[in-house]
Amino acid sequence: MSRHVAILGATGAVGQELLSILEERNFPIASLKLLASKRSAGKTITFKGEKITVEELTHDSFKGIDIVLSSAGGSISKEFVPSAVKAGAVVVDNTSYFRMDPKVPLVVPEVNPQDVKKHQGIIANPNCTTIIMSLPLFPLHMGIGVSRVTVCTYQAASGAGAIAMEELREESIAIAEGKPYHRTVMPHQYAFNLFPHNSPFNDGSPEKEKVKAPKGYCEEEWKMVVETRKIFDDESIRIAPTCIRVPVLRAHSEAINIQFQRKTSLEEIYSILKNAPGMVIQEDPADNRWPMPIDVTGKDPVYVGRIREDLSQENSFDFWVVGDQVRKGAALNAVQIAELL
Ligand SMILES: NC(=O)c1ccc[n+]([C@@H]2O[C@H](COP(=O)([O-])OP(=O)(O)OC[C@H]3O[C@@H](n4cnc5c(N)ncnc54)[C@H](OP(=O)(O)O)[C@@H]3O)[C@@H](O)[C@H]2O)c1
Repeated sequence: MSRHVAILGATGAVGQELLSILEERNFPIASLKLLASKRSAGKTITFKGEKITVEELTHDSFKGIDIVLSSAGGSISKEFVPSAVKAGAVVVDNTSYFRMDPKVPLVVPEVNPQDVKKHQGIIANPNCTTIIMSLPLFPLHMGIGVSRVTVCTYQAASGAGAIAMEELREESIAIAEGKPYHRTVMPHQYAFNLFPHNSPFNDGSPEKEKVKAPKGYCEEEWKMVVETRKIFDDESIRIAPTCIRVPVLRAHSEAINIQFQRKTSLEEIYSILKNAPGMVIQEDPADNRWPMPIDVTGKDPVYVGRIREDLSQENSFDFWVVGDQVRKGAALNAVQIAELL
């Protein structure tokens, strides 16, 4: 059955990817409404050869809409998603605003598709680094049992939106040409540098109390802990994350160390991952070729390589995981949820 669809944040990094994925997968669309801020109202975007005019978001934008794919930031979702639900739409929300609300399912279709049915008008799309980690982690947890995870992320500019990608391009050129550059998005020099993730940090000071992450963690890290537990419906998994921004334009990488609940083997791990949905094992030691952001950009699956036993502790293995977070980490996951609906 064809649906009346609205994309909220249609001009952004995730919004643009949503459009191309809806077109690629031939999602059954009766009508498509593109919403963004006042700044973009009147611009046209081509979808399936047809020019569609972007409209300014208002509380009345959702009349007659069945499905809203929302990616305009948490404060916009907080204010406008209730209006969409009131108008009778189901919202698949890419922002973090509703993710930990107990009434809102948090869904990765390869992990917990059954949770879609529990929605009361809103389904949340998890954090992008969490989605990427969940694809190899969940089948291993089901097959062997995961006890503890240590994960270090190498996160691309695109995770901070189209404007951050533009800033990285411009800053790289300016530095290469020896010219000064005035940053407006990232807190530190990003080109030829890296820094701990710039999501709000809980330093224990009273003004940061609104940040729910425990002292010393940034929000991005804490999302990986609490969202994974919610998606897996398992509070027992212990996760120690460190999130880093690296000067890569697109696709996040993650070095993941997993300690299992019992003894296992490389054979068992490969046999589980080879049959896992949404994942590809890429290992070519002869050519020294492993998953890389540049190869994974624009691809649907999450790529896993460097699978090896961690000889420093019992029942532990290491994995190198790379996924296009604008795609599987956001837009593709949202469209897969819409397909389940
Ligand atoms: N990038 C990722 O990899 C990723 C992954 C998972 C989740 N997310 C989440 O998805 C959301 C969007 O991310 P993004 O990377 O696509 O950001 P982005 O490139 O900055 O795009 C933001 C979009 O929101 C619209 N917008 C901003 N203010 C608005 C307002 N007042 N009213 C209506 N629309 C407004 C923008 O419209 P204008 O063009 O008119 O300003 C634009 O379409 C964020 O909450 C982000 O955390 C992003």
